[in-house]
Amino acid sequence: MFNLSRSQETIDLLLTRRSVKPFTMAAPGPDAGELETILRAGARVPDHGKLAPWRFILFRDGARASFGEVLRKRFAEVEPGANEDRLKIEAGRLMQAPVVVAVISRIVPSKKAPEWEQILSAGASCQNMLVAATALGFACSWLTEWYAYDAGIARSLGLAENERVAGFIYFGSPTLPKDERERPVLADICADWKPPV
Ligand SMILES: Cc1cc2nc3c(=O)[nH]c(=O)nc-3n(C[C@H](O)[C@H](O)[C@H](O)COP(=O)(O)O)c2cc1C
Repeated sequence: MFNLSRSQETIDLLLTRRSVKPFTMAAPGPDAGELETILRAGARVPDHGKLAPWRFILFRDGARASFGEVLRKRFAEVEPGANEDRLKIEAGRLMQAPVVVAVISRIVPSKKAPEWEQILSAGASCQNMLVAATALGFACSWLTEWYAYDAGIARSLGLAENERVAGFIYFGSPTLPKDERERPVLADICADWKPPV
């Protein structure tokens, strides 16, 4: 018989994990080795048909400011009335966190795994990265905002027709104590199955 080890630490992490707003994050973010661990966790998710229906775009160092300029330019195009303060916010989006990873959902032609399952797998990838980063002591957040859904930004990211952004995952160090938010009451979302009458 295999003896799978129990880990109360993992359970505690899952039951207390919390997203952290990027504007409260500080340096340092994950270093190269830590980021590799996070990315490996992101690539180790349930994946029907072994399609790897996701890929990751990394924003580190100067790439965050460069992409910020892309966001600023595009925002000015789609919202011509935007004032300089707003454009500054867009330019600074990725500068809030030391490391940002865009998780790209990539639909692969498959008879086995429908598109829906491949998208779910990309969501699992985002969540695994959050869990891994939290276990390493980092603050993190899964955000989309307007730039996950904009065609011009998709072109700047080099996305193909079969690709879309599942999320931008921000990683940094926490500067505030962890807060809590209300969670769904289990009794409201769980029920034993009963045969239809
Ligand atoms: C696909 C997806 C996209 C999200 N996008 C945003 C977003 O753009 N802005 C935001 O404030 N929260 C967004 N969230 C919510 C946060 O990631 C986070 O779940 C929320 O703040 C609650 O915190 P918790 O994870 O600690 O429960 C998104 C969540 C998901 C699953």
